[in-house]
Amino acid sequence: MALVTTTEMFKKAYEGGYAIGAFNINNMEIVQGITEAAHELNSPVILQASKGARAYANSVYLVKLVEGALALYPDLPVALHLDHGPDFETCKDCIDNGFTSVMIDASSKPFEENIEITRKVVEYAHAHGVVVEAELGTLAGIEDEVQVSAEDSSYTNPDDVEEFVGKTGVDSLAIAIGTSHGAYKFKPGTKPQLRFDILDEVVKRLPGFPIVLHGASSVPQEYVKIINEHGGALKDAIGVPEDQLREAARSAVCKINIDSDLRLGMTAGVRTVFAENPAAFDPREYLKVGRKNVKDIVAHKIKDVLGSEGAAL
Ligand code: G3H
Ligand code: 13P
Ligand code: ZN
Repeated sequence: MALVTTTEMFKKAYEGGYAIGAFNINNMEIVQGITEAAHELNSPVILQASKGARAYANSVYLVKLVEGALALYPDLPVALHLDHGPDFETCKDCIDNGFTSVMIDASSKPFEENIEITRKVVEYAHAHGVVVEAELGTLAGIEDEVQVSAEDSSYTNPDDVEEFVGKTGVDSLAIAIGTSHGAYKFKPGTKPQLRFDILDEVVKRLPGFPIVLHGASSVPQEYVKIINEHGGALKDAIGVPEDQLREAARSAVCKINIDSDLRLGMTAGVRTVFAENPAAFDPREYLKVGRKNVKDIVAHKIKDVLGSEGAAL
């Protein structure tokens, strides 16, 4: 099977009450870990590359790595998605070079400007058989070198979503309901709680429309502990509780974005090898442990959080 768009994935996910995992890719081991897990569990998967990932690995390598995974797992439904596309040109470059889905993230711009940029991307993407995700509301945290403080973040206003989707023709919508990017999502001592009331209001206005959740890592404490016990210093790293992600996956949320958890898994693996064997210097020796952690984390998400196991059959 060639790369697919997310249209069919989201339709089935919405109807089936589960979500598709969108995992960030930056190198070969991450692509391998994610796709091995998805293949073994027969789960559709979205592989997404940020601007930073494309600059780090070179987008050509990322596309070829994904094609490599497809050659190995021809029956696996895989979408290749641009994460947080900053402008029309970046989206166009991805559309012209094999991506099947792009996100245009003009969420920091005024509402009318967000509509205008998004509509331009939608026109070009749809003419080329590619689908588009856009965002309303601002998440806190770090994305592509931009740090948004908690004070500057804002929840999505449900009164805006109908007009935005109607005027742009966008295929899915990322909303801000209390998640944030990175490994420090909630203040220690506070109770992490997503705003399901906002999600419900959005769904009322956009029945049947696929919603996307960014910043949805749960920051598994077992990996934080391994990192800190092997020379790391991740203090007060807190993620979204998995039961809340499960609840979101059962609703209109069809795409759940996970990057930080994979970073933690990879780092925990590499740190463990170096701590236990300071003489190690073969990259295969430490990267394979990181890759195995990535695979385990993705398998856990598919089975126990997203509910997408077997959806590819
Ligand atoms: O939204 C942020 C993603 O985790 C991507 O992060 O821009 O550092 O690649 P990045
Ligand atoms: P996390 O930092 O929670 O993994 O979020 C990733 C993300 O939203 C990518 O767009
Ligand atoms: Zn994001």
